[in-house]
Amino acid sequence: MTNLIKTPEQIEKMRIAGKLAADVLEMIAPHVQKGVTTEELNELCHNYIVDEQQAIPAPLNYHGYPKSVCISLNEVVCHGIPAHKKLHEGDILNIDVTVIKDGFHGDSSAMFIVGNTTPLKRNLCKAAQDALYEAIKLVRPGAQLGDIGSACQKVVEPQGFSVVRDFCGHGIGEVFHEEPQVLHYGQPGTGMTLQAGMTFTIEPMVNAGTYKCKVSKKDGWTATTKDGQPSAQWEHTLLVTEDGVEVLTLRSDEDFPRKISHS
Ligand code: MF3
Ligand code: CO
Ligand code: CO
Repeated sequence: MTNLIKTPEQIEKMRIAGKLAADVLEMIAPHVQKGVTTEELNELCHNYIVDEQQAIPAPLNYHGYPKSVCISLNEVVCHGIPAHKKLHEGDILNIDVTVIKDGFHGDSSAMFIVGNTTPLKRNLCKAAQDALYEAIKLVRPGAQLGDIGSACQKVVEPQGFSVVRDFCGHGIGEVFHEEPQVLHYGQPGTGMTLQAGMTFTIEPMVNAGTYKCKVSKKDGWTATTKDGQPSAQWEHTLLVTEDGVEVLTLRSDEDFPRKISHS
């Protein structure tokens, strides 16, 4: 069993790892352009993490995963493997970065839009980010995991989109994926009660059509929507504070507070 309540020393290391994950997403943003391959984006992230940050890209060799980041294009829900495939106008893609620094993990992902895209894809990206933000606003000691899942559903489903069931957020620290599992659907007032010092991710995946997914039999990783419609995801690593939440992976492009205090 891993420790779900982090010590102040561990929290400081989580802050540093979280900042590094956010910095990678900020670094890569201007490189996401028509004609660039996802492999090139992977290489830029890898080199930045290893050479500039003196950190470790957690996905590389994680349960056999072959690359340093996950890049999930259009109908790919998550765990897309970077490849020699060029980005096209109108593509939407998620870049999911996890770094290990001084033994601790920071995990965050964001959507990028290549040039102009359809209103559907644009709305889908926004719905997934709104779901993440609404869920974060509920995080505090005494809140329950079901509150988080329910908040995601409340944002997503009235827009005719669906919340993925097959993948979830997770506790994080010295271990990449630890307890608890953080579902993005559920009933308020159910599930584990949050306590100060917990660190976990919220990372809703939102599909335009059915929430059903399938995993590639060829590579064992790439998860796509069952109906081929697009999917979007955003992820932050969070700390439950004494009176609210701190977003450990906040980026400077976000119009969202780093800390929310409910006292
Ligand atoms: N970063 C992903 C998450 O949010 C996990 C990627 S695991 C990998 O949990 F092996 F695919 F990299
Ligand atoms: Co994660
Ligand atoms: Co991630």
